[in-house]
Amino acid sequence: PTETRIDILMEAMTLSDKVAQTHQVANIDPEADADALRAGRISSSLYASGATAGNERDAGVLVGNIDAAQRHAVEGSRLGIPVLFGRDVIHGHRTVGPIPLGLAASFDPSLAEEVAAIAAREAVIDGVAWTFAPMVDLSEEPRWGRVAESLGETPVLSGRLAAALVRGFQGDDVSDPDRLAACAKHFVGYGLAAGGRDYDTVSVGENTLRNLHLRPFKAAVDAGVTTVMAAFNDVDGTPMHAHERLIRDVLKGEWGFDGVVVADWNGVGQLVNAGVAADLREAAALAIRAGVDLDMCSGAYLAHLVELVESGEVDVALVDDAVRRVLRLKLRLGLFDRPYAVRPGASNAPTPETREVALRAGQAAHVLVKNDGVLPLDASAGSAGTTGSAGSTGSTGSVLLSGAFVDDGDALLGTWVLDGRPEEVVTPGVALRERLGDHVTVADGRFSDVTLMQARVAETTVLLLGEHRSRSGEAQSVTDIGLPPGQLDVLRAVAALGKPLVAVVYTGRPLDLSEVLDLAGAVLVVWHPGTEAGNALADVLLGEVEPHGRLPMTFPLSTGHIPTSTHQRPTGRLIRADVDHREGRYIDALTYSRLPFGFGLSYTTVEYSAPTVSSPTLATDGSVTVSVTVTNTGDRPCREVVQLYLRDPVAEVTRPLVELTDWSLVDLEPGQAREVTFDVRAEQAAYAGRDLTTRVDEGEIVLLTGPDAAHLGAVSVTVRRSS
Ligand code: IFM
Repeated sequence: PTETRIDILMEAMTLSDKVAQTHQVANIDPEADADALRAGRISSSLYASGATAGNERDAGVLVGNIDAAQRHAVEGSRLGIPVLFGRDVIHGHRTVGPIPLGLAASFDPSLAEEVAAIAAREAVIDGVAWTFAPMVDLSEEPRWGRVAESLGETPVLSGRLAAALVRGFQGDDVSDPDRLAACAKHFVGYGLAAGGRDYDTVSVGENTLRNLHLRPFKAAVDAGVTTVMAAFNDVDGTPMHAHERLIRDVLKGEWGFDGVVVADWNGVGQLVNAGVAADLREAAALAIRAGVDLDMCSGAYLAHLVELVESGEVDVALVDDAVRRVLRLKLRLGLFDRPYAVRPGASNAPTPETREVALRAGQAAHVLVKNDGVLPLDASAGSAGTTGSAGSTGSTGSVLLSGAFVDDGDALLGTWVLDGRPEEVVTPGVALRERLGDHVTVADGRFSDVTLMQARVAETTVLLLGEHRSRSGEAQSVTDIGLPPGQLDVLRAVAALGKPLVAVVYTGRPLDLSEVLDLAGAVLVVWHPGTEAGNALADVLLGEVEPHGRLPMTFPLSTGHIPTSTHQRPTGRLIRADVDHREGRYIDALTYSRLPFGFGLSYTTVEYSAPTVSSPTLATDGSVTVSVTVTNTGDRPCREVVQLYLRDPVAEVTRPLVELTDWSLVDLEPGQAREVTFDVRAEQAAYAGRDLTTRVDEGEIVLLTGPDAAHLGAVSVTVRRSS
């Protein structure tokens, strides 16, 4: 019936009606745009803070405008086709979870799904029908500000989380009034922008795209994502908005994607800046041929497609295909039957239920990367009602909490938060005052000489370090991944007192934490945790929750150490992850990182047995079981992220030294041992060969288990062609 309804609509449409369905504008004003809406000249609108690329909130512009504008289109236009309203609802709407990179640290797809479902439920109340998330660009370059929005550096983690977020936003059926259309972005290769400079060029071959960067997009498409956004970058000289091979042939052809490909902001117009189109007219022709269906904010399609078709330069079939996709999306969303905001006037402010999810997500984003025993703090001397942490020895005594993030709700929300409100954030200052009462001194946000005096008096100092949310996100590339100026000086001075010192690092990207690791007794990387930031921190510091996040990106040892990533491929000069970490490409830096992908501690210790495999051989269409026993050898419970990696020692092309293949979240009581098993199918060792087709080779593959990418036990199996 959907296709029949599209046929009927298409029959009734003129060429200019059709072209109008490929035109998206920003920030519709129901008064100023009334004529265009009644003339059916606007297909879609996004409400965004375009000028600041998501780093500014603009709460309140939504629901009134949307319904008023929609009324013009639905009740005032000849065809009554509803307008599709989009918004960047990235890691929350009013209730905000951790930035996506923090959510990725949870390694927990079902948690990601919950966060996205809440965001959808809150956003539809404001009339939003479509979100431009999840961003699934693999991110291995910390200088790039958009790593904050990514799901990390590996295809399997990114792909599974992408699928979970798509399910959370869209539900089982995207026409559910509580759900949104999702958008996998930015197709493709954006994470490889040269030197991490946002929007920059990308030099990558199709083999690497297929073996790494296309995979999370494929996972999102397989999960039913209804839209995909084209990337700003070029790929080997062809801007993605003109990349017929990757959009039309691979995404739409090979993968059978039947949803909408939307341009990024003025991405069609930028074909002129990139020097592949002389003017907007030529840009429109290139983009529609490449398979970009909806033109975000350049106006090129509306201005030129009719004439391009009439002159024979663009085949009308391409326009028809784009229009069918846009109408299909609107029908799938149920917009024709329910064009207005659901439950207008209902509150979408955080509730105890949504806060509970944000809290769990915030906690799961906390990655403990060092602990000499200072954590957990013992709150037994704290205010009445505070529970002491089991297992720690003696009271922590008085605590100083100091640093820029103490009471700055805005900084804690993270990048791309348009609707979350700083005043609804529980800050660390508020949460720790509530838990520790007189035993905590909450300093004001700025470090000063007073900080040192306060640290002399306190028994334990907790320094909140790191970067403000506005230093990460779109267009926020940096040349230096060190801490912002001045913070190390304070850390050094406080550390010199020789007292217990905890560093909490708020960040949207991997930072160079070398000196922080040297100087602080305990270090927590917490990203930008969102609405429940303070409670999440208090729970982890006080040991009410065991830290269980793991790094979704490698943290380099210094800016000059970049590039670092788990899918580094072997060179002619041996760098074998499992053999010798000291042979490096740089003379003055180690090859390995102190903070590798997958790394994170808990308040206990966990031992891994050597892995075993159910059979020494594996049929190309079969599977084996890999087992490893993990034992909690300490005196506190934990949630361990047991990780499985794969290495293909001899292949047709160079293959990653190790690649994350699977993982399991395992809860362990003190002293408990559990056998963890992974079913490994031979197809998980598949890769794109020299001819770009997918293959599974015969011969040895190595399966590796452990707590992170750099501490792995290995077992081999031989893949044999099934008879
Ligand atoms: O969704 C974003 C995209 O990620 C970057 N440019 C603007 C779009 C819409 O706001």
